Amino acid sequence: MHENKALQALLSRRSVLANNMIEPGPSAEEVSTILRAAHRVPDHGKIGPWRFIIFKGDARAAFSNVLKARTQEIDPGASEKLLKFEAERFLRAPLVIAVISSPIEHKVPAWEQVLSAGAACQNMLLASQALGYSAQWLTEWYAYDEKIRSHLKLNDSEKVAGFIYIGTAAEKPKERARPDLSERVSYWEAY
Ligand SMILES: Cc1cc2nc3c(=O)[nH]c(=O)nc-3n(C[C@H](O)[C@H](O)[C@H](O)COP(=O)(O)O)c2cc1C
Repeated sequence: MHENKALQALLSRRSVLANNMIEPGPSAEEVSTILRAAHRVPDHGKIGPWRFIIFKGDARAAFSNVLKARTQEIDPGASEKLLKFEAERFLRAPLVIAVISSPIEHKVPAWEQVLSAGAACQNMLLASQALGYSAQWLTEWYAYDEKIRSHLKLNDSEKVAGFIYIGTAAEKPKERARPDLSERVSYWEAY
């Protein structure tokens, strides 16, 4: 453990599976704090190439029903078990926030604008953890489905960067094996 609290949070960060989340979720004030942290990411050119869609309360069940209907449309033979799961997908957590990457035509490359949306997702995870909640960054199938995109009112240049599920951990997550850091670090040297 690091003695510095911010570093301790970074070095111990873990996701909690949406399936392992329970109430309570963040209060309205805490949601605002999480959004402010997301909104504070590096943003080359002051573009703000992201937007946030909040799913709370009954909206979670309503959106899950959209997922169920779409699942049935894609596969009319989908099992009752799968359809039940889809009908409850967003009810796994007290709160879900979709982070939408919204790059625009600009001299700042679209790639940088997309990275900024990824940073917004990460800040949400960290802010949630700092407030004592757990979070998981998911995309799953519905981030990429054409019809679901239209339910989210995405324009042609927009993509789902992530659905951030936020709630209270039913149990503390175990440590997760990480890639070997030393294999991923090198020192550039002049030829
Ligand atoms: C862009 C992005 C999308 C992800 N989508 C999924 C997903 O659809 N399903 C999943 O199980 N994990 C997904 N993950 C991984 C989890 O968010 C999480 O990182 C993983 O459960 C490992 O836990 P950790 O964050 O504690 O390392 C995604 C991660 C990223 C960065």
